[in-house]
Amino acid sequence: MSKPEIEDGEQGLADPQFRADVLTGLERRPRAIPARWFYDRRGSELFEDITALPEYYPTRTETAILETICPEVAGIAGRGRAVVEFGSGSSTKTPVLLRCTEPSAYVPIDISGAFLRESSRVLSQAFPNLLVLPFEADFMRALVLPQAVADAPKLGFFPGSTIGNMIPLMAVDLLRAMRASLGEGAMLLIGMDRVKDPATLVAAYDDTAGVTAAFNLNLLERINRELDGTIPVDAFAHEARWNDDRARIEMHLVARRDVDFSVDGRPFAMAAGESIHTENSHKYGSRDARILLRSGGWTPLKEWTDPDGLFSVYLAEAQAERPAP
Ligand code: AVI
Repeated sequence: MSKPEIEDGEQGLADPQFRADVLTGLERRPRAIPARWFYDRRGSELFEDITALPEYYPTRTETAILETICPEVAGIAGRGRAVVEFGSGSSTKTPVLLRCTEPSAYVPIDISGAFLRESSRVLSQAFPNLLVLPFEADFMRALVLPQAVADAPKLGFFPGSTIGNMIPLMAVDLLRAMRASLGEGAMLLIGMDRVKDPATLVAAYDDTAGVTAAFNLNLLERINRELDGTIPVDAFAHEARWNDDRARIEMHLVARRDVDFSVDGRPFAMAAGESIHTENSHKYGSRDARILLRSGGWTPLKEWTDPDGLFSVYLAEAQAERPAP
């Protein structure tokens, strides 16, 4: 997932889960390493740079949609809800929403405590009268939210099309966990990137300035740095592929030549052309998005998109339990 983390691996304390994910991922076929490990300090900086690239339309498009629709969202959801942001990271899109929804409280949830505290401090300065309750947690599980917002109706916020970085099975699990965390009467505002022509999609993940390539290759640098790796980074090329069957962009690191290396003392050999799969970014058409939301326990109320139909924001309501049909 997309959430930046402040790691201590650079000081020599490698995260045991990072080690396990890399070693298992390099051993399995096809080789794959979870995208969450992109976000060390350098990776988080590179991701910030990606969001400003001319080819990477999602961030600016979603921000523009949110600015336009916010009063309407406030009209439907009503003012005074507690806004709960999942994987808040640097909370860059949050002020847009907070300005017009006039929430009773703001609960940013993130797995990275350091990042959370810093972004909450910045936000509290911008909104001095707002009750900000940072919550360090893994939002993939159902959570008990702070007591101060226990009785308030909730508005969940999950921007950035981060849901697209999960395979649909995990995306449904996450939506269900959000439904359980937010409770009866909750609403959810969520961004999803839309299916479009493959050339536009591939360009967004393989920009001419090479920033996304650097972001992908930084994973190998991180492995070398933190896991005592000997990977010759220049022997790998960044590749973005559109997988039409699965409606997703895939990022790969492809060996340019036969290559041998070790990680944490364990030897690996890759043949020229073999890849390490590092990220999926699923794209959803309107119908797909609605089915996904319903599968996760949410009834879609409204979809907004930009004039070019690149990106969508959905408002959904916690679905009442009822037997089918
Ligand atoms: C964080 N996430 C939504 C981004 C995306 O578009 O899937 C991550 C990203 N990877 C390469 N460019 C951006």
